[in-house]
Amino acid sequence: MTTNKKVNEINKLDVTMWQPQKIEEFRSTFLSWYDLEKRTLPWRENNNPYRIWVSEIMLQQTRVDTVIPYYLNFMKLFPKISDLAAADEDVLLKAWEGLGYYSRVRNLQKAAIQIVSEFDGEMPQNPTDIASLKGIGPYTTGAISSMAFQLPIPAVDGNVMRVVSRLFEISEDIAKPASRKIFEAVMTEIIDPHKPGDFNQAMMDLGSSICTPTTPTCNLCPINQFCAAFESGKMLEYPVKSKKKKAKPVYYAGAIIQNESGEFLLEKRPSEGLLANMWTFPLLTEESLIKDIPLKIGTLNAAMPQEFEDGVLKNLSSEVKTSYSIEPIWLKKPFAEVIHLFSHLKWYIAIYYGKMSNEMLTELPENCLWVHPSDFSNYTFPGPQQKMWQKYLTKFDK
Ligand code: ADE
Repeated sequence: MTTNKKVNEINKLDVTMWQPQKIEEFRSTFLSWYDLEKRTLPWRENNNPYRIWVSEIMLQQTRVDTVIPYYLNFMKLFPKISDLAAADEDVLLKAWEGLGYYSRVRNLQKAAIQIVSEFDGEMPQNPTDIASLKGIGPYTTGAISSMAFQLPIPAVDGNVMRVVSRLFEISEDIAKPASRKIFEAVMTEIIDPHKPGDFNQAMMDLGSSICTPTTPTCNLCPINQFCAAFESGKMLEYPVKSKKKKAKPVYYAGAIIQNESGEFLLEKRPSEGLLANMWTFPLLTEESLIKDIPLKIGTLNAAMPQEFEDGVLKNLSSEVKTSYSIEPIWLKKPFAEVIHLFSHLKWYIAIYYGKMSNEMLTELPENCLWVHPSDFSNYTFPGPQQKMWQKYLTKFDK
């Protein structure tokens, strides 16, 4: 035989796979637990592939409790794949506002358009076709195939790698993309072919409720008698995960500029790149504000030596005048700082406040508008913008 060999040969790995009888016992124990303990979640109400797909995309990088209200609203706005394909981009982004990682929803729409044009508006059932859709990688392919179409394909994400690494004491570094294949191979051996969707979701539930990263509650675990790490007491040594590269810091000055009508200057970001087509207060690079001044990048918001304040303000005024043809009166110093972490970048925004008299109003660039806060809800604000606005309210809107 056997399964052991297969996993080991394919991956040149020393995983001690279980014998068939143990696999059977495991499936039955694990699925009985799931039947009793599974969470009631809106995307578990039926096997509709579209509903499962949307939930899985939302749940990437976002917690279940956060996702639920967004999910319900999204399904109300776009109940069918064709509704998503035809959605207006602004409405779509607004429905995702606050979830972050906006490429997820852009890809979701691209894939919906693909499904309408290539698959008659129905999610394809073949895993290769599913995997050909924009934004759908091996994890989502496994999730949709198993939950909607009962195919025995694993859905391996970080949680599943943690559970499986402990079950078998697998020491492969889960931060390395190549390791996923090993966990997929093990999962393919143990997944229940009769209830693959439940099996995958049982893994997810166990990973989020019991087999957690730093404080697993092994005594409550329904499968602890199968777990090699529990037996050896080495639960916290798994998974092995190397440190991610640090996010690169990027420094900005954020300009909150208000006119006499109480409106604020908003700018629509370019249609490509990070936070494409979303709205923010103007952001100026810190380099442009400290040019000719012996300040180091990243120090704008620190206690700045007073002798440099005037120079920085002069640069701020001239940058804003050049870009927006306006000349507000500025508060001398940044009044707050916002820090926002993206997956590879860390933005530091020193926030300045400027006030305009209405006689000075001129025509704005095409991508800019004066907007009253009562209309902010009509614009999609990404995370850093929401944080800047909260800082403003805390400081000035008592
Ligand atoms: N995390 C990712 N997918 C999930 C699902 N289907 N149920 C619960 N948590 C999840």
